[in-house]
Amino acid sequence: MFRFVIEGRRPLTGTVKASGAKNAVLPIMAASVMAGSPCVLRNSPDLSDVRIMSKILERLGATVERTTDGSLVIDPTTIEHHVVDEMHMRQVKSSIFLMGPVLGRMGRVQVSYPGGCDIGQRPIDLHIKGLKALGASIEEKHGNILAECEKWEGIDIHLDIPSVGATENIMMGACLASGVTIIRNAAKEPEIVDLQGFLNAMGARVKGAGTDVIRIEGVNELRGAEYTIMPDRIEVGTLMIGAVMTRGDVVVENAVAEHVQALTSKLREIGAEIDFNGHGIRAVGKSRPRPTDIKTLPYPGFPTDMQPQIMALLSIADGTSVITETIFDSRFKQAEELGRMGAKIRREGRTAIIKGVPALSGAIVEATDLRSGASLVLAGLSAEGRTIVRGVHNIDRGYERFEEKLMSLGASVKRVPEDRRS
Ligand code: EPZ
Repeated sequence: MFRFVIEGRRPLTGTVKASGAKNAVLPIMAASVMAGSPCVLRNSPDLSDVRIMSKILERLGATVERTTDGSLVIDPTTIEHHVVDEMHMRQVKSSIFLMGPVLGRMGRVQVSYPGGCDIGQRPIDLHIKGLKALGASIEEKHGNILAECEKWEGIDIHLDIPSVGATENIMMGACLASGVTIIRNAAKEPEIVDLQGFLNAMGARVKGAGTDVIRIEGVNELRGAEYTIMPDRIEVGTLMIGAVMTRGDVVVENAVAEHVQALTSKLREIGAEIDFNGHGIRAVGKSRPRPTDIKTLPYPGFPTDMQPQIMALLSIADGTSVITETIFDSRFKQAEELGRMGAKIRREGRTAIIKGVPALSGAIVEATDLRSGASLVLAGLSAEGRTIVRGVHNIDRGYERFEEKLMSLGASVKRVPEDRRS
C-alpha cells in the first residue's frame, strides 16, 4: 500500500500528455472477446482496472499481452469458459458489460452482482432488461446471474436512463444478433463512440453512437482488429483543474476540446483562461476562482467523474457554490476529507454547499475511490504545507503514472510505502 506525500503551493506549468481512456479501453477489451482472431489495442493505459480486466479475459481462456509501446494484444480464440471471476468483478464493477460479448461468443455467461461501491449503488436492471429483450434467458441465484441465449434477435429498446454500461452491453450483444437493434435514449459519452469505432473495425455495422439513437445491424461474425484508444477526457479535465487551482499554466497536448466542453465553460465562468490551440488545450489560473453552481448530467452535461475534482477547486473560490450530483447517490465522500484540509462543505442529500476559503491547509486524508482520490491530490497541490493522501491504489485504478505527470509539471508528489514515515 502506498501514500502520496505532497508539498503544496507549487503552480503546475508546462506540457503533458493524457493517457488512453480507462472508460473506453475497458468496454473495448470486453468487445474483443467476440473476435475470431487477435486484436491490438494501441494507446491502452497501464491501470489497475485494465490489469484486472486482463485477468478476467485470461480466466475465460484468452491471452492478453502488453507490448513495450503500450498496446494490448488480446487473442480471444482460446476462450473456452463462460464464468466471469467473482472477485475480479467486485473490484471492477463495470465489468458487468462483459455479459453481452461473452453471451455472444459462448451462448452463455455467469457473472456476479457488481454490488454497491464507494460512489453508491450500481444497479444492473437495464443491462438485464436489454439482454433479455435480445433473447437471453436469465436466472439469478445466490448473488450470481446465469444467462443463456440460443438465438439473438434484434430489438427496438428504450432505456429508462441513458446508462453508459447498459448502452455498451446491448450494443455489443446486438452485433451478433440476427436483424436490426435500435437503442433509444442511449448514453452519448465519447467512450461509446470509441466503442462503435472498434466494433466497426471488427466488421460490425453500428451507427449513431454519440447520439441518443444507436442502430446495430447484426452480422454473422466479427474479426480481430487494430484500434487506437481515445485520450482520457477525465484525466484531461483533472489536469486542467489542477492548473487552475495552482494558478499555473498547463497545455494538455492530446486533449480533444469537444470532450471537455462542459468543464471548459465552467472554468471560464470562474475566471480561468482556457484556449484550444493546434497542440491541445491550455488551462491558465490567473486569480482566486469565482464561485459557480454545478449540476452533473449525462454527456454532454457536466460529467459526474469530474465532480469531486471541481469540488476541490470550488473549496478555495471567492464565495459560495452549490454542486448537485444527479448520477450517483453517494459521490461526496471527498467532502469530509477536504474538510480536514479546511474546506467548508455542507452536504444535504445529493447537494453540497461549498463556502470558499482563501486557502486549504495540508493534512492526512484518505482516497476512498478513484475520483475523490484525484480531488484530494489537487487539493494538496494547492494547499499550504504538506498533504498526505493515503489509499493511492484507488487513484492508480484510473490515472496512469499520475505523480510522474504532476512532477513533470513542477509539483512535489512522492509515492511512499504506507508503513514508512515520509
Ligand atoms: C460508467 O459507469 C463509467 N465507468 C463511470 O466512471 C461513470 O461515472 C458513469 O458511466 C457515468 O458516466 C465506465 O465506463 C467503466 P451508468 P456505469 O450505468 O456504466 C444507474 C469512473 O470514475 N443505472 O451510466 O456503471 C446508475 O445507478 C467511473 O471512471 C441503473 O439504474 O454508469 C447510475 O445512477 C465511475 N440501472 C446511472 O444509471 C442500470 O442498469 C448512471 O450509471 C445501470 C445504471
